[in-house]
Amino acid sequence: MERVQKVISNSGFSSRRKAEDLIKEGRVSINGKIAILGDKVSANDIIMVDNEIITRNNGNYKYFLLNKPRGVVTTTKDDKGRKTVVDLIDSDIKVYPVGRLDYDTTGTLLLTNDGDLCNKLIHPKNNIEKIYLAKIKGFLSIEQRNKLEKGVYIDNYKTSPCKVRQKSYDKKTNTSLVLVTIHEGRNHQVKKMFESVGILVDKLTRLSFAGLNVKNLKSGEYRELSKKEVNVLYSLVKR
Ligand code: URA
Repeated sequence: MERVQKVISNSGFSSRRKAEDLIKEGRVSINGKIAILGDKVSANDIIMVDNEIITRNNGNYKYFLLNKPRGVVTTTKDDKGRKTVVDLIDSDIKVYPVGRLDYDTTGTLLLTNDGDLCNKLIHPKNNIEKIYLAKIKGFLSIEQRNKLEKGVYIDNYKTSPCKVRQKSYDKKTNTSLVLVTIHEGRNHQVKKMFESVGILVDKLTRLSFAGLNVKNLKSGEYRELSKKEVNVLYSLVKR
């Protein structure tokens, strides 16, 4: 028998803490009965969060790397019926996105049913590197760049030091391409960082996540990770 929050988290659906919150909110059921914190389940019990059945992975792990297109939500289900990143993956084993990219953000996104690795990759203590390319209006001044690199306040939280490089400036459109390397993953972090120094992000793409990139994948395409790549991911996180 295992605690229900552990089974939910191992499936990749959410972190253990989020699973505990879901239980407290009365959104989790076991065989049709609302679960309470501390409930334990066996392999035959049916666990549901809202209307979604939690699938146990039984050690059968899948890891997909997707080049996320624009106009797709990074969830498993969308209230508004929009296409989700999971809809793009043709797999009979259910996978979940590792972290989030905005509806209009493109690029590198990992999906897996390995809840343990997923939770570790998104945990701030593991400092996983993410590289973004932002197309911004105008260009960055030295002061703005220094501010961003030292850390800025977004939602009463100071961002950690990061690396910011202006790559190019297009005079015609008065836009610039800026590379931003961060080790955090707050909601809308890059856009909010720029916003805090008075700059609007026009387009955002994630070039790399934990050293993985989608250079060889067209928008909307995906591939499975090799064993070696999965081992590298494990080597990046604390056990
Ligand atoms: N930062 C953002 O603002 N948006 C994303 O999608 C990812 C990082």
